[in-house]
Amino acid sequence: MSNDAHLAPGDPTPASDNAAPIDGTATDNSVAVEWRGRVTDDEINVLHAEAFEHRVLDDDWLTPLTTLSLGWVTARDEDELVGFVNVIWDGGVHAFIEDTAVAERVRRRGIGRRLIAVARENATAAGCEWLHVDFDDHLRSFYFDACGFAPTNAGLMRLK
Ligand SMILES: CC(C)(COP(=O)(O)OP(=O)(O)OC[C@H]1O[C@@H](n2cnc3c(N)ncnc32)[C@H](O)[C@@H]1OP(=O)(O)O)[C@@H](O)C(=O)NCCC(=O)NCCS
Repeated sequence: MSNDAHLAPGDPTPASDNAAPIDGTATDNSVAVEWRGRVTDDEINVLHAEAFEHRVLDDDWLTPLTTLSLGWVTARDEDELVGFVNVIWDGGVHAFIEDTAVAERVRRRGIGRRLIAVARENATAAGCEWLHVDFDDHLRSFYFDACGFAPTNAGLMRLK
């Protein structure tokens, strides 16, 4: 892992060489996808519970998001949070996709793909060179075909 200096979490998003806006604001439909969009703990807890099929918890998301993560991406349909992904990082060149979630009622409309695209653009703009993710078998088509990840060897160890 590199020790290159990079933006600290919370620093403004740097300009992109890309002509396309990197805030991901939707222009193609009613769902707005935004890097570091406004969000509350309650909204993430409700969406996460639906997406990962557990009871609604009372987790503090904003503290780790704003102090540890490179950033996060939100998707809003009108005012409702319908998509979220956390982009964690090592402080250097590696960023990691975690907790990708899209509300069931708006799935298969390309929102998940857009969440990952905005995460990718902003991780690149922040100086990251690698974007990692791990997932269950049934999501191979989503991450490999729709989002552009390449298969690789990876390891995972349950700690408790
Ligand atoms: C995985 C998830 C984020 C996808 O969000 P989404 O907005 O429905 O995804 P998209 O519409 O961008 O999908 C793009 C393509 O990916 C593939 N895809 C998406 N979800 C898929 C699924 N459940 N099974 C198989 N392929 C899938 C399809 O090819 C799809 O294109 P198509 O609809 O034209 O066939 C969403 O299903 C979800 O929140 N699931 C529950 C939580 C979860 O498992 N998160 C991932 C943790 S690693």
